[in-house]
Amino acid sequence: MKTPTRVIVLGAGGQFGRQIVNRLGDTGAWDVQAYERRQLDITDRDRLRQAIVAGRPAWVVNAAAFTNVDACESQADSADRVNARAVADLAAISDESGAALLHISTDYVFDGRSAVPYREDDPPAPISTYGRSKMLGEQSARHATRHLIVRAAWLYGPGGRNFIDAILARAETGQPLRVVNDQRGNPSNAADMAECVERLMRLDATGLYHIVNGGTTTRYELACRAIELAGLSTPVEAVVTAAYPTPAARPANSALDASKYETATGHQPRHWSLALAEYVVNRRAATAE
Ligand SMILES: NC(=O)c1ccc[n+]([C@@H]2O[C@H](COP(=O)([O-])OP(=O)(O)OC[C@H]3O[C@@H](n4cnc5c(N)ncnc54)[C@H](OP(=O)(O)O)[C@@H]3O)[C@@H](O)[C@H]2O)c1
Repeated sequence: MKTPTRVIVLGAGGQFGRQIVNRLGDTGAWDVQAYERRQLDITDRDRLRQAIVAGRPAWVVNAAAFTNVDACESQADSADRVNARAVADLAAISDESGAALLHISTDYVFDGRSAVPYREDDPPAPISTYGRSKMLGEQSARHATRHLIVRAAWLYGPGGRNFIDAILARAETGQPLRVVNDQRGNPSNAADMAECVERLMRLDATGLYHIVNGGTTTRYELACRAIELAGLSTPVEAVVTAAYPTPAARPANSALDASKYETATGHQPRHWSLALAEYVVNRRAATAE
């Protein structure tokens, strides 16, 4: 049997981090060393270097990020430190230890003005501090000789702060909701994304890829579908973004085109509504236990 390939996962306690650790662990092809933030802070360059050089991984997977989009507006330096400067360190350390760097980025690097889903070669034009810090992170990750950058979108999974859980928690109280109907994107299940990322790793892919579940929707439609799937009947009012001001601006249409991934792997991620249904059913089962 082939010796499992060593992988170090950083930010292993987050939504994507948990799922990629599970996925890599399930296949038997990977030997995973997972670090949550409390075990390894990626802004601690010395400890980061120590762990990666000692671990001698073939891949370093960076699932760590400052992901609170609104908080990034008032904590721009922290956002840059985690989302960009630490990634520059990671690129240098990955090169030093002969590892490939797999870095996760976001649809929020785009301004959202496109009428069609963004492709990998569309120029980023972020409209928030978070988006800018993630764009800088991509630029930093490209300094690693072997790098794979994957842009995700509208992620949800157990263990994080996400739109679906926030909507359902509020809907469960029975209070009516107001949700924006003029932001469009690809809701993406973190477990599905982890499966797709592992496919790219198996191919030793490098470069930039978009990975999202199939189809697009608005925040309003997504909220309504999640509430319906949860068996709730809480009323939802559709509002425009202008009526719901937030510290950070959000792209109006940040849908991503994942056809480059589909061509490379021959795999098509399932439609967002199927992935969401599975997530909501599992969530109901977990809360009923
Ligand atoms: N969530 C989305 O909708 C979305 C959409 C597109 C792309 N993405 C990208 O996808 C990736 C994964 O996001 P996610 O949804 O899994 O986010 P998440 O659930 O917030 O996970 C991020 C993890 O990184 C950890 N972390 C933060 N600062 C760290 C540091 N200095 N050192 C080590 N770990 C640190 C966090 O720990 P604490 O919780 O303890 O802070 C958390 O466990 C990120 O690159 C994100 O930008 C996310």
